[in-house]
Amino acid sequence: MRILAIETSCDETAASVLDAPLQVCSHVVSSQIDAHGPFGGVVPELACREHVKALPLVLDQALVESGDGWSALDAIAVTYGPGLAGALLTGVAAAQGLSARLGVPLFAVNHLHGHVFSAFLDSAAPSPGSLYPFLSLVVSGGHTCLVQVKGPGMYQLLGTTVDDAAGEAFDKGATLMGLGYPGGHRIDDLAREGDKQAIRFPRGVVKAGSRLTGVLDARCCFSFSGVKTALRYYLAEHPLAAGDTTRLAAIAASYQEAIVDALVKRVTYALDTTEAKALTVGGGVSMNGRLRTVLQALCAKRKVPLLLTPHMYCGDNATMIAAVAGLGAACVVSDVAKLDVDPSPEVLF
Ligand code: KG4
Ligand code: ZN
Repeated sequence: MRILAIETSCDETAASVLDAPLQVCSHVVSSQIDAHGPFGGVVPELACREHVKALPLVLDQALVESGDGWSALDAIAVTYGPGLAGALLTGVAAAQGLSARLGVPLFAVNHLHGHVFSAFLDSAAPSPGSLYPFLSLVVSGGHTCLVQVKGPGMYQLLGTTVDDAAGEAFDKGATLMGLGYPGGHRIDDLAREGDKQAIRFPRGVVKAGSRLTGVLDARCCFSFSGVKTALRYYLAEHPLAAGDTTRLAAIAASYQEAIVDALVKRVTYALDTTEAKALTVGGGVSMNGRLRTVLQALCAKRKVPLLLTPHMYCGDNATMIAAVAGLGAACVVSDVAKLDVDPSPEVLF
């Protein structure tokens, strides 16, 4: 089954062709970073307009790269949420049109499920079938969650962030350090040369019984707004001298360590308390070198297989959306014309 997938939930316009279950035939991502950069964050209305402009070209390129004509496609898959409403609508409208015109089924895919399964796009990864139930850490600019995956389409949300996402903490920290937007990878690069123990930033413990966690165990939940505020105060009290790269690297390394430590503590607790035959990690922040190193050490110690998403599939892309459909973990839309977007971040799993 050849699946054409479309992803437009935030600021990447992406299309991919995949031969089910996981053979990647094309992978096209057009980033809007240059358009949003001057605003220091994603501007929803601008994202929507940029998707409308880019999508026809991205779709054409996905077909050229896969060598397919439209008639070769057996199904369409599209992200219906969570994300920005207008941005999601452009992708869903295109997918509805293609499904109706080509007379092929349409799969509606939850964006977060894409990040959960993106680790299986590594050609060396075992098939998910042998690994259920596994644990998955999704860490991106918009989301931070821990989930137990019991089978295709069967999820148990264990923890989520009660405020900022891990990627937001990286980006806001990078802005405060004068590193530009989005700055997660810049902190990662700088931190390699810095002393990660120079400053102790808070690890964002979530109080048990907090109304923000609902029924979730607070020990699996995250909070990243405090670390960013702590950095703001630190920089106000200890201003950075221009050109002091040693101190900048130490601040970056210490800040990154607080975020990574907070993530890994929750993963450790989840591994202790939940059945998991493996750990998968996906989302833009999963490119972080320090996070990868610490998780590798943890999983080696626990003898739990660790599946890290290949770098090219960590950020938002359509290949991971196609993969969810290819692995039989997405629903076919029964009435294509009635498919609606669901931007709500609460509707995760
Ligand atoms: O998955 P993604 O492309 O978008 C969302 O779905 O939100 O993730 C983007 C996020 C940004 O916050 C970016 O700063 C962060 O991933 N990021 C990183 C690294 N590379 C990207 N954060 C830490 N270290 C990195 N190397
Ligand atoms: Zn994402």
